[in-house]
Amino acid sequence: MEYHPELTISEDPEVYPPSEDSILFIESLNIFEGEKVLEVGCGSGVVSIHCALNGAEVICGDINPRAVALSRKNAESNGVTIDVRDTDVYSSITEKFHTILFNLPYLPVDDEGELAKAWSGGSDGLGPLPELLAHAPEHLLDGGRVVVVVSSLMDQDRLKEVLGDKEVNVLGELPLFFEKLQILEIKI
Ligand SMILES: C[S@@+](CC[C@H](N)C(=O)[O-])C[C@H]1O[C@@H](n2cnc3c(N)ncnc32)[C@H](O)[C@@H]1O
Repeated sequence: MEYHPELTISEDPEVYPPSEDSILFIESLNIFEGEKVLEVGCGSGVVSIHCALNGAEVICGDINPRAVALSRKNAESNGVTIDVRDTDVYSSITEKFHTILFNLPYLPVDDEGELAKAWSGGSDGLGPLPELLAHAPEHLLDGGRVVVVVSSLMDQDRLKEVLGDKEVNVLGELPLFFEKLQILEIKI
C-alpha cells in the first residue's frame, strides 16, 4: 500500500506514534478490496486506517485503552469505519479473517507501563508472537496469513522455533543503525 503522510493522525503521549516500523509495515502490505483484516496492537490506528482506505473490512484492537480511544478518533477523522476493541491478542475477537496483522512489541526488554507495551517484548523479544501464531488457526479463513514485524534483536533461535516449518515470505526489510526490521508473511 502507499503510505499517506497527509492523513490526520492525532497522537497521545501514552500511545506509540506512527514510526519507521509502522511505515515499513504499511508499504510492505498488499491489501485487496473486501479483505477481512484483523490488526492486533493498533496503537494510533495508522496501519488499520490505511487498510480500510484500501477497501479492507477492518477490526483492530489494543491492550492499551488509550490506543483504543485514539484509533477510534483517528478512524473517524479520516472518514473510515473500523471496529476498534479493547483486546489482549485475541481475547475480544471471535471472527475469522484473511489477514492478521501485528506490529509487535519486539525489543528484548522488560520495561513497564502502558506506552512500554509498544516495544517491551520480554527477555526473548518475541512478546505475544507465540500466542498470536498458536491461536491464529482459530481466527483465519482458509489460506489466511499472519503478517508481523520482527527485529534482528529478537532471540533468533527462539524465533526459528516459534516459526517451525511454516511457510514464511519476507515482504519488506529496513536496516537501521542498531537493528534490522523485517516484515514476515506467515502462512498458517
Ligand atoms: C509497536 S506498537 C504498533 C502500533 C501501530 N500498529 C503501528 O504500527 O504504529 C505495538 C502495539 O501493540 C500493543 N500491544 C502490546 N501487547 C499487546 C497485546 N498482548 N494485545 C494487544 N495489543 C498489544 C501496544 O499497546 C502497542 O500499541
